[in-house]
Amino acid sequence: MKERIYLIGFMGVGKTTLGKKLARHLGYRFVDLDDFFEAKFKIEIYQFFNKYDEPLFRKLEHDRLEKTFEMEGVVVSTGGGTPCHYHGIEEINRHGLSVFLEMPPAAIAHRLIHARRKRPLVVGKTGEQLTQFIRKKLSERQGCYEKAAIKTHALHLNVAALASEIQKFE
Ligand code: S3P
Repeated sequence: MKERIYLIGFMGVGKTTLGKKLARHLGYRFVDLDDFFEAKFKIEIYQFFNKYDEPLFRKLEHDRLEKTFEMEGVVVSTGGGTPCHYHGIEEINRHGLSVFLEMPPAAIAHRLIHARRKRPLVVGKTGEQLTQFIRKKLSERQGCYEKAAIKTHALHLNVAALASEIQKFE
């Protein structure tokens, strides 16, 4: 099995929740890249966007991603944009196994409206605005997400089945 498993996909699809469960199944450690960023820079991502800007966030989140390539026996849940900047997906595929969690835009919108964590890119957007934003961003990112080694539907996901598929990769 690969030493590093990366969960990728749009914000709100459940990468963190699934990542924790998957790590337990595989006997791996769990790393959430957003938390890893916040712990390093001692600032919430939401605040970081207010204080600095997205280009700096992308650069620093990529540095954090590279740090995970030194780890062994980990499931990493990435931020929604991580694989789509600085050739993140290509690097992820070189250093580990990527799993794309797919979900329809309407379901993502529903989940983001009810999410507890503040996401700077969608804050203040409601209903139709949010769904439109998701459709647009998803279509920009689809090509990058599709480069994942494994693609799976995030709604009604069977963790045990996914874990055994992951274990097949040498
Ligand atoms: C982002 C997703 C967020 C976080 C940041 C930007 C994005 O992570 O990294 O707010 O560009 O999609 P989650 O996917 O964990 O919400």
